[in-house]
Amino acid sequence: MSILDNRPALAAEVEKVAEVAGYLWTKGWAERNGGNITVNVTEQVDDTLRAMPAIAGPFPIGMTLPHIKGCYFYCKGTNRRMRDLARWPMDNGSVIRILDDCTSYEIVGDKPVMPTSELPSHLAVHDDLIAKGSNYRASVHTHPIELVAMSHNPEFLKKDVLTNILWSMIPETKAFCPRGLGIVPYMLPSSTELAEATIATLNDDYDVVMWEKHGVFAVGPDVMEAFDMIDTLTKSAIIYRDACSMGFIPTGMTPEQMKELSDVFHLPK
Ligand code: 13P
Ligand code: ZN
Repeated sequence: MSILDNRPALAAEVEKVAEVAGYLWTKGWAERNGGNITVNVTEQVDDTLRAMPAIAGPFPIGMTLPHIKGCYFYCKGTNRRMRDLARWPMDNGSVIRILDDCTSYEIVGDKPVMPTSELPSHLAVHDDLIAKGSNYRASVHTHPIELVAMSHNPEFLKKDVLTNILWSMIPETKAFCPRGLGIVPYMLPSSTELAEATIATLNDDYDVVMWEKHGVFAVGPDVMEAFDMIDTLTKSAIIYRDACSMGFIPTGMTPEQMKELSDVFHLPK
């Protein structure tokens, strides 16, 4: 028995996570247990599941998050591999419920798989999204090789330097990632400081942020759209890298070409 049985809407969300987990692995962005995904599935949870007792917990979140009180999340399990989650999402992740104290959660199914160590960042971001009335329900953290490599150049970490380079490699990048790439300076993985800095940078009007020398964190309406933005930015990073490996720094689209693109497609920045 699985909590996904006879809950097609919930099962569909989890299937999308499994599909994206497979992409992360095949792209080489998910070594061992690298990366994590959470999805707010509260809208896909019915009264029967709400009434079901927990199978494990309560566990502390480490933060007080009032806007996600009573919400449900599918979370990748800590130390679990994306390549395993792609095939067995309910053995390598679990659905959790946020308790009324807003500081703890319990696991409702299928198995007592403990959520990702980056839970503070994921849940704090979901809390902030709900507070803002956003329709975004998914967050993805992964380790894309070329983007992480670029974060080792201090010049690229200055505000919007990397964004403008990536946007100028190919028109699609600005069109499909119109808010660009925010930068979060290096902080200890899984820390509440990293969670707070991630929210502050997302609120500076980005959908994707770089965790310096670690990875990226993206939010979107669903897991597929969050993945697409990381994929689009990475495509630009690969074009940049390939041009450099051919022996030249790519010129990029001109400021006039970028402006024309923004005007015609009504892009925010
Ligand atoms: P988890 O296995 O706890 O999800 O951690 C992976 C990771 O990428 C930490 O930043
Ligand atoms: Zn990571």
